[in-house]
Amino acid sequence: MQRLLKLATARVTSSPLRSATSSPSPSSLVPKSVTAILKTTSPPTVRPLTTTSTTTTTATMSSNLSANTALDLIKNRRTIYALNKDLTITEDRIQEIVKDALQHVPSSYNSQSNRVVVLFNNDHNKFWEIAHDVLKGMLPEDRFEATATRLAMFKAAAGTIMFFEDMSAVEVMQAKFPPYADRFLPWAAQSVGMLEYILWVALEAEGLGANLQHYNPIVDAKVTEEWKLPASWKLNAQLVFGGRAGEPGEKTFAPLEEKYKVFGN
Ligand SMILES: Cc1cc2nc3c(=O)[nH]c(=O)nc-3n(C[C@H](O)[C@H](O)[C@H](O)COP(=O)(O)O)c2cc1C
Repeated sequence: MQRLLKLATARVTSSPLRSATSSPSPSSLVPKSVTAILKTTSPPTVRPLTTTSTTTTTATMSSNLSANTALDLIKNRRTIYALNKDLTITEDRIQEIVKDALQHVPSSYNSQSNRVVVLFNNDHNKFWEIAHDVLKGMLPEDRFEATATRLAMFKAAAGTIMFFEDMSAVEVMQAKFPPYADRFLPWAAQSVGMLEYILWVALEAEGLGANLQHYNPIVDAKVTEEWKLPASWKLNAQLVFGGRAGEPGEKTFAPLEEKYKVFGN
């Protein structure tokens, strides 16, 4: 990993993220009527459905961190399909990372709509057997062969993290803030996407490999049944992880000029 970080760092000449400080503040983009509602409404308290206690933390400034620390990790993350069952860190450590990320990922109004299930060993295998069986019943035989090979590749990995959005948490927010009712679903999707990304970055920072899959919604009913999950948990994605058994593919980058603008009068 050190080698990868060095390579990534060598390619950095300037950081487009720096210019983000010249963007307008998000609050200036919110319509005035909404701002008025927010000012008169106390912040919501929504607790995760599965916990019985609440922890409050206060932000502290970290003096010896720089954006380059984060950017190095960001550049180190890639899609790695060739994975095996040799974990370089313990299952306990993986759980610690997942729980930390789940607690600290941002969510709209701190609604904490994300839910996570980690599958190791036979439970990981079971997920990919479910996907296999569901797809076998859906695809014509000639198309299923390639799919089966791909599914076997995921099953060969060590674990799968399933990410969910809890629709009951979304509904609480919709009822509490009617003017934003149609925004809470996309915001929940953004938050769970952030969590997926954080864990992808974090696990690869620990020397593992990972790739992100979306076998939902076709496996949803079987997943809910197999792991006896609340009906309100809507599956969003699966992060497959394991020991690295191969290198990431080549990645091309569209020119920044097509994707980026900066203004700063
Ligand atoms: C929202 C999102 C959905 C994705 N869905 C899949 C997927 O279903 N299957 C897959 O193999 N890769 C999926 N990927 C991975 C992308 O194909 C991959 O990130 C992209 O090709 C860039 O390669 P990199 O991850 O190595 O940087 C997804 C990535 C994102 C951000």
